[in-house]
Parts: sequence; C-alpha cells; structure tokens
Amino acid sequence: MIINFGSLNIDHVYRLDHIVKPGETIAASDYAIFAGGKGANQSMAVAQAGAAVRHVGKIGPEGRWMLERLKSAGVDVSSITVSDKPGGHAIIEVDKNGQNAIVIHGGTNTMIATDEIDAALASAHAGDLVLIQNEINNIPYIIETAHAKGLPVCLNPAPMDPGVIAYPLAKVSIFVINETEGQALTGKDNPKSILDEMRVAFPTSRVVLTLGAAGAVYTDEKERIRAEGHKVKAVDTTGAGDTFIGYFLAALASTMPVQACLEIANMAAAIAVTQRGASKTLAKIGALALPEN
Ligand code: RIB
Repeated sequence: MIINFGSLNIDHVYRLDHIVKPGETIAASDYAIFAGGKGANQSMAVAQAGAAVRHVGKIGPEGRWMLERLKSAGVDVSSITVSDKPGGHAIIEVDKNGQNAIVIHGGTNTMIATDEIDAALASAHAGDLVLIQNEINNIPYIIETAHAKGLPVCLNPAPMDPGVIAYPLAKVSIFVINETEGQALTGKDNPKSILDEMRVAFPTSRVVLTLGAAGAVYTDEKERIRAEGHKVKAVDTTGAGDTFIGYFLAALASTMPVQACLEIANMAAAIAVTQRGASKTLAKIGALALPEN
C-alpha cells in the first residue's frame, strides 16, 4: 500500500494564447474546473496504474466532490478529512503549446495536524511506502514518524522552496525530482552532475530525475538506468510529472525491474500530456498505449 500525504486542490484552468505577462489582461478561450493538487494527482495515478493507495489530506466543504473523483479512480479516501475552512485551490494558465503557469493557495492543505498524521500512520504495515510532495504542512514530522516506524519515504519536493533543504532528507529512501528541484538540492545545473551530487549527499537513497520529454534517469548505490521519453503533441502538460510518479511507484510496488518502471512511467506521462486537466484518466499498466501522432 502507498500512503500518500498530499494536497487536494480545486484547479481553475484557463486556456490562453500565451501565459499572462506582468500588467497584461487577456481573455481566456476556455475555462474548466478539475480535481488537482500534486498529491491527489499522484494518488489517482497510482490507483489507475493498479496499485493500492490511501490518500491522507484535508479538504474544505466546497471540495467534497473531489472525494468521489478520487474514489472512482480507486483511491482509498478514508484518511481525508473535511474541514470547515476553505480548501486548497490552483489558478492554472495553459498556453497554446500546452505549457502552464500555476498559482496555488494551500488552504486546508496546510492545516494537517500531527495527531492526524499519527492516526494515518497507526494502521501502516511493513511493506507500505509513504509518499509526500511539498504542498502540505508538517512534512518533517511525517518523514521522521514514517522513518521511525521503518516505513520507506518517497519525497517529490515539488513545488520546490528554500525550506526543503531543512527537511530530514537523509531519511528519504526515494527522491523523485525534476531538473529545477535537482538544481536547488545540489547546486548543480546539468542532469549528470545533479545525479552525481545526489549520490554523494544521499548515498543510500534511490533517485529518479525526470527530464520531461527526454525521459528519466534512475540511480542508486549500484546502478544508473536511463529510459527515453516519447514525442507526442502536448495539449496540457499540467500534472504530467504527477502521472509519472504514480505509475513509477505503482510499477515499483509490483516489483518490476527499474528499467520497466521508468518505461511505464514515461509512457504514462506522454499519454497524460495529450489530455486536459492535471488528474488524467489512464489505463492500468498493462493496457497503456501511446496515442498515434
Ligand atoms: O502538478 C500539477 C498540480 O500542481 C495541479 O493540479 C495544481 O493543483 C498544483 O498543485
């Protein structure tokens, strides 16, 4: 079981010719609301890939509909609480090339109490994995508590901020990072140097560096494995990284070799960018198929 402590956002998505510049006002050609948040997106991806996932998080009363969305994707929502405070939301601009700019407001995502974390971890079993992104509060406490219970922690430090460096990162078993996050963690500015430096800084951790359309690279104490990405026509890149993580962890949980896990995750991420919204609708691992270009 993957226990995902993560954000749940209502995503307000605006399609525009280009991302708004400072001082500019432009009309959107389309507006839609989706279930989102890096946490919820990753939980839905894990479940759709076919692995068991319990999401731990907090929504506001206006976000109750997202529970149904997660449940229908196959996510265990029994550890999601409903507060009377407003939940998290995101304002997302998507341009004509499918690229995005995102503003988030944490709301209840940043109001998760330590006793709620303890309660969520009380029913964890050996073999479970704890997943965290960087859109909720009390992350150091979650890492420390999970580690003390002998549970491996996977951290996706997105969105990156200066506070991440002070997290108990030595207790993270798996990092999934992109180049921006890798640069912030290591001070290095190219994939090889980022991976080399991650090995030095976190010698026992496994690291996955995502490279967008160029694929992803994995490294651990023994090996370095690369899997190429796929070229597809992007409609909306929002949440593609979340889809990658969900499928990668689901494949890893089913004890597939790392090379296969990377390839599955790359394919899922490529399919994801052909769909609108951050929480994509994808098939189980064995049934994934790239759309024709
Ligand atoms: O990774 C995409 C997600 O980032 C969106 O769903 C948005 O809510 C923000 O959290």
